[in-house]
Amino acid sequence: MVTQITLLYREARGVCRDMIEDKQMSDWKKSDWRQKPRVQMPEYTDAAALNAVEAQLSNYPPLVFAGEARKLKAQLGAASRGEAFLLQGGDCAESFEQFSADMIRDTFKVMLQMAVVLTYAAKVPVVKVGRMAGQFAKPRSAPTETVDGVELPSYRGDIINDLDFTPDARIPDPKRMLQAYTQASATLNLLRAFSTGGYADVNQVHSWTLGFTEGDQAETYREMAGRISDALDFMAAAGVTADAAHTMQSVDFYTSHESLLLEYEEALTRLDSTSGKWLAGSGHMIWIGDRTRQPDGAHVEFARGVQNPIGLKCGPSMESDDLKRLMATLNPENEAGRLTLISRFGAGKVGEHLPRLIKTVQEEGMNVVWVCDAMHGNTIKSSTGYKTRPFDSVLREVKEFFAVHQAEGTVPGGVHFEMTGQDVTECTGGVRAVSENDLSSRYHTACDPRLNASQSLELAFLVAEELSQFRNERRNLKAV
Ligand code: PEP
Ligand code: CO
Repeated sequence: MVTQITLLYREARGVCRDMIEDKQMSDWKKSDWRQKPRVQMPEYTDAAALNAVEAQLSNYPPLVFAGEARKLKAQLGAASRGEAFLLQGGDCAESFEQFSADMIRDTFKVMLQMAVVLTYAAKVPVVKVGRMAGQFAKPRSAPTETVDGVELPSYRGDIINDLDFTPDARIPDPKRMLQAYTQASATLNLLRAFSTGGYADVNQVHSWTLGFTEGDQAETYREMAGRISDALDFMAAAGVTADAAHTMQSVDFYTSHESLLLEYEEALTRLDSTSGKWLAGSGHMIWIGDRTRQPDGAHVEFARGVQNPIGLKCGPSMESDDLKRLMATLNPENEAGRLTLISRFGAGKVGEHLPRLIKTVQEEGMNVVWVCDAMHGNTIKSSTGYKTRPFDSVLREVKEFFAVHQAEGTVPGGVHFEMTGQDVTECTGGVRAVSENDLSSRYHTACDPRLNASQSLELAFLVAEELSQFRNERRNLKAV
C-alpha cells in the first residue's frame, strides 16, 4: 500500500514537473525577442556567417550554472532586506586588446579590498559581482561618429566591431562573438581559481589595503583600516580563522554584464534540468540598459524568460508607469533577489527622481534591490577633450542615494561602479589627485572612464563611512 502511494505520488510529481516545464517552454522561447522591436543592436550583413556562429555557440558549454545564479539570487534577496550589500564593479567595456591575467587579477583584488572595507562598515556580507567575463557589448548615444569630417558607424564594443576608426573595423563581425566567449571563459576560469585558491584570504586582502593607507595622502583612512586590523586580530585570537577556514579564505565572486547582444545571449541560453527553467548561461546576473528597457522591446522580452537575477538601469527618464510594467513583466512572482533597480540619475538629481520610483515600488508592493550606479549620470567632457567623471560627483551621488533611503525608510542595497585595478587616469580627483591635464597620460578605456585602483579603494572607505552613519541613524530612529 505504502509503496503504491509512493509510486502514485512520484508519478504525480513527475507529471507536475513535466507540466511546469511544458508551460515554461510554451510560454516563452529563447528566440521570442526576435519578434519584438529592437534597438542598439547591430545589423549583420552576412546572415550565413551569423547563423554559423550562433550554431557553434549553441553547442558550447554555458559559462555559468543555474545553481550559482540561484545562490546569487538568494544573496540579492538578502540585500533587498538589508541583510547583505551588493558591490558591483568592473570595466565599462571589456577589451580584446587589453585582456591579460594581470588585468583580471588587479580588478578582482581591488574589489576584494573594497568588499572588506564595506563589510566592516555594513556589518553584513558584501555580495561581489564583477562587470566581467561578458561585458563586451555597448549601447551608444549616436549610431555614427564623426572625426575630422569623416563619419563612420559607432564602435559598439569588441563583441560587435573594432574601436579603430576605419570603415572596415566598424563593420559588425559575428565571429567576434566566438572571441568574446573564449575570453569570458578564460576570465571566469581565473576568477574561479582566485576565489578559492587562497588568493582571497581576508588577512592578505587587508594587508594590501594597509599598504594603501600607509601613504601620506591616504592617512585619513588609516584609522578605519586600523579598526579592521583589530577586528581581524580579534577573530584570529578567538580561533575564527582556524574554525572557519573556508569562509575566511575563499569568496563567492559572480559575473554580470549588460544583456545587449541578444544573438549571443540566446545562443548561450540553456534549460536547467533541476528547475525546468531557462538560464542565460553567459553570466550570473544580466542587466537591461537604460536605452534598451522599452517594456515591449526585445531586451525585456529576453530577460523575462530566464531565471538569472536581472538588473534594470533606471535613469531620469524612467516613468512610474513603465517601471510598474517592467516589474510586473520581469518579476511576476515578486521573487526577492530577482530584480535589482540600478539607479543612475547623476549627482544633484537623485532627490528629484529616486523618491518617486521608491513610491512606485511601494505602491506595487514589489521586492527590489536598490543599487546606486554613481557613474553613468556623472560623465562630462573635460577641458582637455576627454570624457571623464569627477570623483566628487560620484561620491555625491552615493551620498544622495543614502540620504533618500534614510528619509524614505527604505533599504540602500548596494553600489555599482565602473572601475579597474589598473593605475589609469580616466576619472579626475581622489587623494592621489588626477587632474584634467593628467587624463591623457593613461587613458585606456574602450568606452566610459573608470575609477583607478586608488580611487576605487578610497571610494570604498567613503561609502563605508556613509554606511556606518546610515546604520547608526536608522538604529537611533528605531530606538525613539
Ligand atoms: C553601462 O553600464 O555601461 C551603461 C551603458 O549604462 P546605462 O545603460 O545606465 O547608460
Ligand atoms: Co559605461
